[in-house]
Amino acid sequence: MKTILSPAAMQAESLAWRREGRRIGLAPTMGFLHEGHLSLVDRARERADVVAVSIFVNALQFGLGEDYDTYPRDAERDLALCARRGVDVVFMPSQADLYASGHSVYVEETDLSAGLCGLSRPGHFRGVTTVVAKLFHLVLPDVAVFGLKDAQQARIIERMVRDLNFPTEIVIAPIVREPDGLAMSSRNTRLSTEDRARAVCLYRSLCLAERLYAEGITEAGRIRREMRETLRAAQADTDYVATVDYRSLHPVEEIRDETLVAVAARVGGVRLIDNTVIGGAA
Ligand code: PAJ
Repeated sequence: MKTILSPAAMQAESLAWRREGRRIGLAPTMGFLHEGHLSLVDRARERADVVAVSIFVNALQFGLGEDYDTYPRDAERDLALCARRGVDVVFMPSQADLYASGHSVYVEETDLSAGLCGLSRPGHFRGVTTVVAKLFHLVLPDVAVFGLKDAQQARIIERMVRDLNFPTEIVIAPIVREPDGLAMSSRNTRLSTEDRARAVCLYRSLCLAERLYAEGITEAGRIRREMRETLRAAQADTDYVATVDYRSLHPVEEIRDETLVAVAARVGGVRLIDNTVIGGAA
């Protein structure tokens, strides 16, 4: 496994692979890898000859007062996990190498980014689309894999690729969970033992939504109310409980197949998100 730090060296490597006719797969991450990230590597491996993982905590997508400084980092551990998973290249640029000083060009999606996390994290998705566009130009992936854990992000990247004609296939991989149902996240490591136990309330609220729908209840308002109650009972500080169409991300008042039920809540000060797609994501 190779580790590449310089953007120019990464692009040269990718151009060489392309000339050899090799299919390139990419799993973009911010590191502190867990099984959710590594499942993306497996997906990329199924569809590509060479698999790259990028590890870059992108300051541009963190707002003022968010957790950029305290975001967990452990490059050595990440490299060992990637090597064991059969990754070919880990691309780990520095902030200074990836963003020229005075950089002034951004990529912004203006429809799907408006709601959900876009409301509580202004500028977040502009940071995500900008860095992902840059990573795509450097790694030149034929296929890039994103997790359904960040469903809104995945839909926004699909839109970016469509609207800006990137020659990259986007694959969206299912959410990998801990045994009790908590969605894996690098941020989970910042939960105290007590908060870790409480954090499962996000998953429980989603299970409740699935159960109510299975019982024939389709009124979204009622389902959202009962989900909020589950979060409140666990002393989570709810940011949003949303029922939206998986394709358009527009709110729906009647739950049906392809409704994305999404939650964001703070548990012990750590912001967590989770979701489920009713009937499964197509
Ligand atoms: P990060 O939070 O590190 O996540 C990297 C990728 O792993 C994302 O596509 C995310 O959806 C996926 N992922 C995280 N937890 C997962 C889980 N439990 N199951 C399945 N997939 C999971 O998302 C980002 O980084 C950044 O915004 C990035 C796209 C790298 C741009 O900076």
